[in-house]
Amino acid sequence: MIYMDNAATTLRKAPGVIEAVTAAMKTAGNAARGAHGPALEAAGIVYDAREKLAALLGCPRADHVIFTANATQALNTAIYGLLGPGDRAVTTDLEHNSVLRPLYALQDQGMALDILPADRQGRIRYEALEALLPGAKALVCTHASNLTGNLLDLARIAELAHRYGALLIVDAAQTAGSIPINMTELGVDLLCFSGHKGLLGPQGTGGLCIRPGVELRPLLRGGSGVRSHDRAQPPEYPTRLEAGTHNAHGLAGLGAAADWLLREGVEKLCAREQELTRRFYEGVLSIGGVTVYGDFSVWPRGSVVALNVGDLDSSAAADALYTDYGIAVRAGAHCAPRLHDALGTAERGAVRFSFSPFTTEEEIDAAAAAVRELAG
Ligand code: ALA
Repeated sequence: MIYMDNAATTLRKAPGVIEAVTAAMKTAGNAARGAHGPALEAAGIVYDAREKLAALLGCPRADHVIFTANATQALNTAIYGLLGPGDRAVTTDLEHNSVLRPLYALQDQGMALDILPADRQGRIRYEALEALLPGAKALVCTHASNLTGNLLDLARIAELAHRYGALLIVDAAQTAGSIPINMTELGVDLLCFSGHKGLLGPQGTGGLCIRPGVELRPLLRGGSGVRSHDRAQPPEYPTRLEAGTHNAHGLAGLGAAADWLLREGVEKLCAREQELTRRFYEGVLSIGGVTVYGDFSVWPRGSVVALNVGDLDSSAAADALYTDYGIAVRAGAHCAPRLHDALGTAERGAVRFSFSPFTTEEEIDAAAAAVRELAG
């Protein structure tokens, strides 16, 4: 099997992840719920993961790294923690439903929402973004589209947002671990990430990094292990936003993955993924009947290539790729409905190939050859 659905979840994890999860399942008690050895072991695992994620993503304080079950929960924590009826927010056509649906729900409750359109190549116009920003409390945008891989210029967007007093919430689900990110240097206020994609950790892990000074209301309230007699959720980060038992087993794996990424260097892994993405793109570009989506004049980009083959429905093409060639890809709408509308693929979806640093050149060439046969 050739696995090319790494934008949904990476199948091969960083070296050391499985061992770290297995070890934690034998040793970790409940973090911040006691002073005995197993509880302290779990607290140590969780804090170690915070420190490594802070170092990896450029968050100035480890206690401002909040762990959640996934990027969706991180985005909901950021969006509901900041925005409410009477506020105004701006987002883009590139977004995943983990951004769009919380914003639509708030819009239904009286929040104003403006959405920056994308063109047929999935590009946005930064000049048009500026026109939407006056009076906005937050701009919520992805770092890279999960469909086309087009990357947004976060430094430019942060400068624009801050010029108009808006905070910048970024969905880095598709880039954390694959593209170097320093949230402080970029000027990102809230950076949401998934642990099981480019970070090469277990599913059930994710989080958000908060710039010191940004205050969020808790999305969840409950046990914290401290200040148990208070009616309210404790105000300090990370406890304010982390009610309930941690996924210490998963976080042991995420910490091990982050440790490996720090040692390898995200720049090096990024260069590898860019090379693989370019090789596949060049391999399929000239095949008659194949349409590739996105703006491939700009690099780096998310390590995905979305395409369609002739008149084939994307699900039929993906099924053929798996059944006849053993290639696992994702078809359909990719939870990115507005971008499919913009690309003109709302009806048939697209077939998305997505790579990891462990993808090989032979796999890339085999996948491109399979697309050529399918098109023939
Ligand atoms: N958001 C993930 C994807 O793009 C699941 O496939």
